[in-house]
Amino acid sequence: MTRRFPDQFLFGAATSAYQIEGGIENDWTHWEAAGRLKDAEARCARASDHWERWGEDFDLLSRIGANAYRFSIEWARIEPRPGEFDDRALARYVEMIDGLRARGIEPMVTLLHFTHPTWFHEQCPWHARDAEPADRFARFVERVVSAIGDRVQLYTVLNEPGVWLSGAYLGGVIPPGLKDRKHLARAAINLVRAHGRARAVIKKLAPNAQVGVAHNMLRFMPARAFHPGDRFAAYVGSELYNHALIRAMLTGRMKLALIPGMGIDREVPEAKSSLDFIGVNYYSRIYLKLKLFSPGVDTFYEDRSGRGVSDLNWEIHPSGLTESLVEMSKHGLPLYVTENGMDDRDDSRRAAFLYDHLNAVLDAIDRGADVRGYMHWSLIDNFEWLEAFGPRFGLFRVDYETFARTPTRAAELYREIIAARALPEVRPEEAIKRGSGIYPIF
Ligand code: FCB
Repeated sequence: MTRRFPDQFLFGAATSAYQIEGGIENDWTHWEAAGRLKDAEARCARASDHWERWGEDFDLLSRIGANAYRFSIEWARIEPRPGEFDDRALARYVEMIDGLRARGIEPMVTLLHFTHPTWFHEQCPWHARDAEPADRFARFVERVVSAIGDRVQLYTVLNEPGVWLSGAYLGGVIPPGLKDRKHLARAAINLVRAHGRARAVIKKLAPNAQVGVAHNMLRFMPARAFHPGDRFAAYVGSELYNHALIRAMLTGRMKLALIPGMGIDREVPEAKSSLDFIGVNYYSRIYLKLKLFSPGVDTFYEDRSGRGVSDLNWEIHPSGLTESLVEMSKHGLPLYVTENGMDDRDDSRRAAFLYDHLNAVLDAIDRGADVRGYMHWSLIDNFEWLEAFGPRFGLFRVDYETFARTPTRAAELYREIIAARALPEVRPEEAIKRGSGIYPIF
């Protein structure tokens, strides 16, 4: 039996500016120069050369029949020095948005996808004691949205604030690279505040626009199913990572308790009722095990279902997407899958992954979740942060010598699904194994 998607469903792909555009100078370029990537020699540099090839890349979206595309606007391009705005860069983004609309593709715009202008962390970092960082961000958003006007109806203001906060302030592995829980607490409050401020600006300038967040969710599992300590750790992990920030954006109260020595409980009135929809970025599930001889937990990925792991070792667990969407649906807001994908370097499993996760979306819809779209991460291969160019997440492969784009099997499958607005009966892996030729590389 074929399974159909709702009529207005958005099928698309997601990217972020720094990961694909190339030629950007920001906090990450400095981080790279300081040798902070896994390969100290790696540089983002031209990335996937999208700043020059955006038209060609949007044609790829048309080629698979996509009717939506999520991307980000690079703050460092727009405001390279504090208060100095680059109107030509902004005009290019507006041109790109018009280019999407001309192709019948709904743009979904992210305003902060991990990267910052270099001056930001020096002058008014997120962990500042006052509202200065949120003010600066709101000023940038005002400039951008004034230029865009009503061309964009969907904004995911922040990308994965929780992931960013833990990388920047717990692990200290991404800029500004501080391992400090007090800073983490202040930065979390300021980010939530900035989200609220940005929403107010967007609503003022584009009253019909819908404002959300692209929020990473993981399934937290006790490593030993019946171990009370592991179970408690999984519960706490899920509360803090999956729910705390979303709750703050709904209630205007930031509560990050349970972590020893932190325990934030603060009103952030700017953020109250600041979500029109929730975007879920979903990749995998993670296991938690209480440490034996010291306080804390070990976290790890593992193939416990036999579906395998991606080349980044993330367990493939499609029903976790259903669970995440159903969990988020209790807030009564529309949902989008704003990212989902896998690192598949030899293009052997992405098609099956795509099929199984779209199937998981349909399961969530059957269980009452109002899921309105799915953005596959990613449209093209790109710079994967600390991992640089090793991982391959693209529906289209990028040759980093020539910058040629080549479709993967998943791109062909996606095209068929979008054309039918339904899932084919045969799972791609089986079709490929049988050599039935239903999924040739086009
Ligand atoms: C998400 C990020 C995105 C990309 C994918 C693989 O956490 O939002 O930029 O790196 O992971």
